[in-house]
Amino acid sequence: MKRLDRHDRHLVRLTLNGEPVEGYAEPRLLLTDFLRYEIGATGTHVGCEHGICGACTIRIDGKAVRSCLMLAIQVDGAEIQTIEGLAELDGSFGELQQAFHENFALQCGFCTPGFLMSLSEYLEKYPDPTREEIKIALSGNLCRCTGYHEIINASLDAAKALREKKEEAA
Ligand code: FES
Ligand code: FES
Repeated sequence: MKRLDRHDRHLVRLTLNGEPVEGYAEPRLLLTDFLRYEIGATGTHVGCEHGICGACTIRIDGKAVRSCLMLAIQVDGAEIQTIEGLAELDGSFGELQQAFHENFALQCGFCTPGFLMSLSEYLEKYPDPTREEIKIALSGNLCRCTGYHEIINASLDAAKALREKKEEAA
């Protein structure tokens, strides 16, 4: 099978939010740019591009990672979840998005995809966190607008909503 295109870019195949996708990437292409410009998944934002702000956080094989610190060719065969994957199948908000919406936990919204993806991994591992634990869990994501209080409130509400959903399903 041909793995290079005529510009010597590598074929990268992955699962994005449950759907198989593929595109071509030069070896130096950042994963953020691959997702946004080659795949068209523009929900992942790019802030500092050197691992500080957390705006580019996505989940790769379940783990929350900064996609600006990875190359596209590193994720060939991986399962990736981005902010687009947090919505319900009908396009309505998922629990995390709904909680941020109801708590006014964003202003410009630039940081929001990263916060939500960090939170989605954390709440799977720790479904009933305290306020202080949430603060520590999200300390790697920076927001220049909100002052963080609403983000913490929204995160606690999201955790509660996810617990209730799990109890209903049990
Ligand atoms: S854009 Fe990746 S951490 Fe800031
Ligand atoms: S809402 Fe603007 S940076 Fe967080």
